[in-house]
Formats: sequence, C-alpha cells, structure tokens
Amino acid sequence: MSRPDISTQVHEAVAALHRGEVIGLPTETVYGLAADASNADAVRKIFELKGRPADHPLIVHIADASALSRWASGDFAVAKKLARAFWPGPLTMILPRQPSVPDAVTGGQSTVGLRCPAHPLALEVLRAFDGGLAAPSANRFGRISPTTAAHVREEFGDGVAVILDGGECEVGIESTIIDLSSAIPRILRPGRITHAQIEAVIGPVAQDQDQHSPRASGTLEAHYAPRTPMLLLPRAALELEATQQRAFGKRVAILAIDALPPGSTGAVLPADAEGFAHGLYAALRQLDAGDEQLLLVERPPEGPAWLAVHDRLRRAAAGAGPDDDSP
Ligand code: TXA
Ligand code: MG
Repeated sequence: MSRPDISTQVHEAVAALHRGEVIGLPTETVYGLAADASNADAVRKIFELKGRPADHPLIVHIADASALSRWASGDFAVAKKLARAFWPGPLTMILPRQPSVPDAVTGGQSTVGLRCPAHPLALEVLRAFDGGLAAPSANRFGRISPTTAAHVREEFGDGVAVILDGGECEVGIESTIIDLSSAIPRILRPGRITHAQIEAVIGPVAQDQDQHSPRASGTLEAHYAPRTPMLLLPRAALELEATQQRAFGKRVAILAIDALPPGSTGAVLPADAEGFAHGLYAALRQLDAGDEQLLLVERPPEGPAWLAVHDRLRRAAAGAGPDDDSP
C-alpha cells in the first residue's frame, strides 16, 4: 500500500487535533507530542502519555508572531524583535500569559512559552489548524527526545494514532528558551540559537539559572537520559577506560567524535557543534538499544557553540540508568 500524500496526512492530523487527540509532530528541533492548546482535556492526554508531572508547563507552538497576542499579554516589543530575527526557528519565548490560556498548558504559572517551529510540515499543520499546539518533546518523562518519527513510535506504540513523518530533525536538540517575563531577559535552556546571537538583537541577556526562574522540566539535573549508565570522558581517557571496564567483564560502547578508538565499538558524531547536536539523541538511542552495560562518551570541546550540547550531555549522564532509578 502506498503512503498517503502529505496533504492527506496533514488533513488527518488536523482532524485528529480538532477531535481533541494527541499527534506526533515533527519540528526542526525534536519531535513533539501535540494537542490543541485551547482544549484542557486534550492537553491532559499529553501528560498521561508522557508520564509527566501535571505542573510542568508546555510550549505553545504558533504559526507566526501575529498569534503572540492570542496567548501572551503585555508589551511585545522585545518578543517581536526576536521573532523577526529567529522565527520560524528554535527559540521559545516565555511571556506573561493571557488569562484564557488553560492552566493545563502553563502548569498554573502566570507565564506561557511560545515558539514558531521552522519545519514545513509543522507549519502546514499549524496554518491548517488555525490555533496553538501545546507540544512537549515526544519522549517519556526524563528520557531521550526523539528526532525521527520511528523514535516516537518506539516511545508510544499505538498510544498515538497519528504520527507525521517529517524526516530527521535538522537541529536535533530542543529549542533555546528565553524568559522575557521579567526585567532582564534570561536564558533558561541553551539551544542552537546562542546567547551572543540573542544579545546581538536585544542587548544584555542573563544566562545563569537561578532559584527563582519558572519551573522548566528540561532544567532538572537528570534529563534526556539513556537507560544504560553513561560516563563523559576526554578523548585521551576513552581507550584506557574502555580497556579497564572490559577487564572487569563489562560490555562497553563508545560515542566518539570523528573516529572510534582502535578496537572499540559504538558510534561516531561530527566534530562541529551543529553536526554533533544533530546526531546526538539518535546515537544515544541506538547505543542504548544495544546490550552494552556502559556508554563512554567523548567530551566535546568547550566554547559558546558547544554550550547546549554540554548541557544535554551533563543531564544525560546524571540521569542515565535503569527506569526504576530515574527521577
Ligand atoms: O524544541 C523544543 O522546544 C521542543 C519542540 C517539540 O518544540 N519542545 C520541548 O518541549 O522541548 P518540552 O516540554 O520537552 O520542554 C519545554 C520546556 C520545559 O522545560 C518546560 O518546563 C519549559 O519549556 N516551559 C514551558 N513553558 C514554560 C513557562 N511558562 N515558564 C518556564 N518554562 C516553561
Ligand atoms: Mg522534553
């Protein structure tokens, strides 16, 4: 049987959304689990599927910046500058919410997260749906975000009827989140769009996390984690560590930059930050699916371009381990 053409798929996805169902939606960052953001019952289904605590807020995806005032309130001068520079694209803005936004979406907070994704299928769905789509990454809570439609199917099986296949996500890690709801803009989660790129558009931006920033589940220390225990190591230490672990009888896989050390098995990622981010989650999933008992991951270089990758690797290492140990 041939696959239905794209417009039929989009039509089916939009019909499912109007019925209050949850769909798998490709974006340029990672795949999302999307539902009608104005329908609290539909949004609750996302939390059930993910196994995510109900007070964790979701990002609302919109077709363009003209929808900002439908979801957010206040002065949009800064938000509009950022939208002009980076939307559609991997930047989520936290703004004071409109009172009409369901608490199921905002986790009861006074703010809402908004993003216009740069993926042709996502934009087609958003335009045809003519509303906002609440969508977290389409993984079970605390686990590795999906970057292909097959990953979403692996996570949820038949629990999600419609999963749109938009190919591999180009960015591969989640959007940069910037909080614009208080006096000084603050980056809550690093991503492809860097601190310096944002400062070039709107001036000074804070980057450190603080106790008072709104709750963001992507900022929990253990997150994005494989089930196999994982260690981050400098290149020079990979081979010796692997040899020693094997001497203890452990099955070891290595995730290395450019090339695997001689005699080892595992996967390889590119030496540039964007290429590394693009392939990171798929590689972690692939290695996690094998029967290795330990993943050794080469620590990438430092520098602003690598900040988001370091953030995800640190959390993955902190959260790695069998389900019953995870947060
Ligand atoms: O790239 C992305 O952002 C992907 C794709 C699907 O768009 N989505 C994504 O969603 O990563 P999720 O739910 O896995 O992560 C969104 C993060 C969470 O950490 C959530 O707590 C935070 O955004 N967030 C959402 N609304 C917020 C708000 N009002 N205040 C603070 N953080 C918020
Ligand atoms: Mg997530």
